[in-house]
Amino acid sequence: MAIKEAPNIQTERLVLRPRADKDIPNMLKMFNNEEVREFLGINPPRDEHSMIEMVRNRTETKWTVALKDTDEFIGDVMIPQIAEGYLGEIGYRFMREHWGSGFAYEAVSAVMEHCKSTLNLKRLSATIDDKNMPSKKLIEKLGFTLVAVLPESHLHGRVADVAYYSLKL
Ligand SMILES: CC(C)(COP(=O)(O)OP(=O)(O)OC[C@H]1O[C@@H](n2cnc3c(N)ncnc32)[C@H](O)[C@@H]1OP(=O)(O)O)[C@@H](O)C(=O)NCCC(=O)NCCS
Repeated sequence: MAIKEAPNIQTERLVLRPRADKDIPNMLKMFNNEEVREFLGINPPRDEHSMIEMVRNRTETKWTVALKDTDEFIGDVMIPQIAEGYLGEIGYRFMREHWGSGFAYEAVSAVMEHCKSTLNLKRLSATIDDKNMPSKKLIEKLGFTLVAVLPESHLHGRVADVAYYSLKL
């Protein structure tokens, strides 16, 4: 059976494409940066073997985000869970040196459009550590509404105050 892969999506400056082995050096760099890891909990792993497993575990909703000009990995966007073809949970991580350029906004916007028009999802959610200001700023700019902050809740294997955001597509 053919491997299910995320479809290519082009934006002004970026290409979203399936994960590939050539992404591994930059993935290692991203996941070994303490600022990137600060709110990601006990996952993701940071060793090369796990990165190989990660790039080979492709699905229809896990994208590498690469610069259009060079095809260089700068981050990833994923919908790790879809409930009843209706609700998707969105996640994203970008290399530290590529924060502050609007790349996350550009990439996540494109995935949201794909969720609406191709996957036909009706709602997206995001669960964010309440202290993760860059992520909260991004998700609010994307139009999500803060539903509640869940005190001392489970987030990626840790206990944190969790901001639950939701958006009707
Ligand atoms: C969350 C995360 C992706 C946000 O990245 P980001 O680069 O801050 O997000 P954006 O793409 O929205 O970029 C915003 C900044 O780019 C600036 N910018 C520059 N050029 C821009 C352009 N052409 N378009 C839009 N914004 C632009 C904006 O002014 C903004 O800066 P500001 O916040 O100082 O006003 C990043 O912090 C990250 O990877 N964190 C670690 C992983 C993580 O926590 N993931 C989320 C788990 S819930």
